[in-house]
Amino acid sequence: MAISEEFKQELKRRLNIADIIGEYVTLKKSGRGLMGKCPFHGDSTPSFSVSPELGVYHCFGCNASGDIVGFVRQMEHLDYIDAIRWLAQKAGLTVPENDTDTASAKLRQRIFEANREAAHFYVRQLYTPEGQEALSYLKKRRLSSATITHFGLGYSPKSRFALVSHLKSKGFSGTEMIQANLANLSQKGNPYDRFSDRVMFPIIDLQRRVIGFGGRIMSDIKPKYLNTSETPVFNKSQNLYALQFAKNEAHGQLILVEGYMDVIALHQAGFQNAVATLGTALTQEQALIIKRYCDEVVICYDADEAGQKATARAIGILRPTGLNIRILTVPNGKDPDEFIKSHGEQGAARFRMLLNKSGNDVDYRLNRLRARYQLDITQQRVDFLTEACKLLATLDNSIEKDIYIAKLSEELSIDKAALKQQTEKYTRINNRRTARQEQQEIRRTLSLTRENTGNAASCNLRAASTEEALIALLIAHPDIAAGLFPTLSPELFSTLFYRKVYETLRHRAAQGYDFSITDISDSFSEDEVSRIARILAVHPREEDPRAAAKDYIEILHEEAERLTPEQIAAADNDTLLEQVRRLRNKKQ
Ligand code: GTP
Ligand code: MN
Repeated sequence: MAISEEFKQELKRRLNIADIIGEYVTLKKSGRGLMGKCPFHGDSTPSFSVSPELGVYHCFGCNASGDIVGFVRQMEHLDYIDAIRWLAQKAGLTVPENDTDTASAKLRQRIFEANREAAHFYVRQLYTPEGQEALSYLKKRRLSSATITHFGLGYSPKSRFALVSHLKSKGFSGTEMIQANLANLSQKGNPYDRFSDRVMFPIIDLQRRVIGFGGRIMSDIKPKYLNTSETPVFNKSQNLYALQFAKNEAHGQLILVEGYMDVIALHQAGFQNAVATLGTALTQEQALIIKRYCDEVVICYDADEAGQKATARAIGILRPTGLNIRILTVPNGKDPDEFIKSHGEQGAARFRMLLNKSGNDVDYRLNRLRARYQLDITQQRVDFLTEACKLLATLDNSIEKDIYIAKLSEELSIDKAALKQQTEKYTRINNRRTARQEQQEIRRTLSLTRENTGNAASCNLRAASTEEALIALLIAHPDIAAGLFPTLSPELFSTLFYRKVYETLRHRAAQGYDFSITDISDSFSEDEVSRIARILAVHPREEDPRAAAKDYIEILHEEAERLTPEQIAAADNDTLLEQVRRLRNKKQ
């Protein structure tokens, strides 16, 4: 939707990007801007910069960047309009609603309302004669009345129109029910209940809104669990079950389990820091959410092969966040819920013991690796050690590496120096790979990858990086820009993206509007805003911006004359490296 210029101006006047980011990140003054630890990746040294002057943030580690709206979107998982609302609330303003915006915002609102109404309805059904069986099912699974209430558990009746009729009586339309995925459409075109004869688990987000449901069948019929599909308010990869409770009880540690019932059993046993994914494998987004609320995550998946595979996968996703990872394996193939239940009164204490002795992920991975080899056979021992060295080579921390090398050397009576040498060899190979990835990253930053412009000129390094610098300068110096707009033609920009940015700036200036990044952000996609923010962040302010602008324009004229398709075909490596060097120097 389009937000009015007046409103954006007002919002901008009242808010400062540093204040907003400062609520999540400790920022310290550094040069013209501020620096802190990046909230979007596991940052050990502060590599996250914020420029209140330009209204942008940029992480030199993970390359996240954007304006104030982008930050809120990424941090709070909001779409554009909700991020604006969120900011407006901070500023004590209300976003003026107009018809276009709100079609989608209104629908979301209605879905939340329908979900809430449905959740209450399901809870009530649990205490009717029809819900009797469901209630005793939950009791049989040893859930207390308090736990059942705490998690808002309910029951969806057998009749396929129970909820639909109820929602209808509350004024919800069939379309709304279907959009909320509370109903399906029959062949005759009538909505009927999606969930029937199931125990219902409402899924609640951090704003305490009901975003979806899981429903468990009480017999052996498949599917055992039916979950809400993707809806405008429900995204399985961006939420975690019970995080609304767990985040307040984390105290530095979250326990990650597979199922709803595991979470509930753990909470009831006093482990209120347990969360679960929503019936899907762990995603990167979820890893970052976890990272926001703790320093250590304990993975406690089922002990079966599928659970162990999922564990290995989860480690790979959690490791890059810098979280401390521990693995808790429940004995005898039980899941945490069954384990606790099987030990009756002692369940909680026993689980606590497992928790205390759970090893870290390196131990876990080495153990799993070791189990694949017969170590009394020499060749297998060699193979194991080779794989083990490869594994250790992926660790960032050299102290950690040394510790495991020492352990392995002792365990298998192998010379420590040899293991170390081997590990270092693999580390070097990894580093080379990383360097190559970094180059690709920088290539992208410099916008040197070929764009689908129909104009291969975008491959010209010199032109592209000059255009980039010029755009940064124009946004940072509206006064200089104003002087240049009348004579500087968009045609001079060979890169389609920069040309579009330039045209937007010029167009806005002609209409008398400002063009800071936040002002222009709704003319661009989220990725594009992020790209512009990155440009602003990596180009420091020029000493003499007027002279610099003049130089840039001169270069662009030169390049425009020189351009031939051949030259453009692809940037060779030396030229690329030269650019990389230049970018690096500028960063410092
Ligand atoms: P029970 O103890 O048997 O009630 O289940 P659980 O909580 O231990 O879950 P389980 O380990 O069987 O599965 C883990 C999670 O995967 C569940 O909480 C669901 O989110 C999801 N899940 C399990 N079975 C199904 C299924 O049949 N369909 C879908 N979509 N998801 C399922
Ligand atoms: Mn279970």
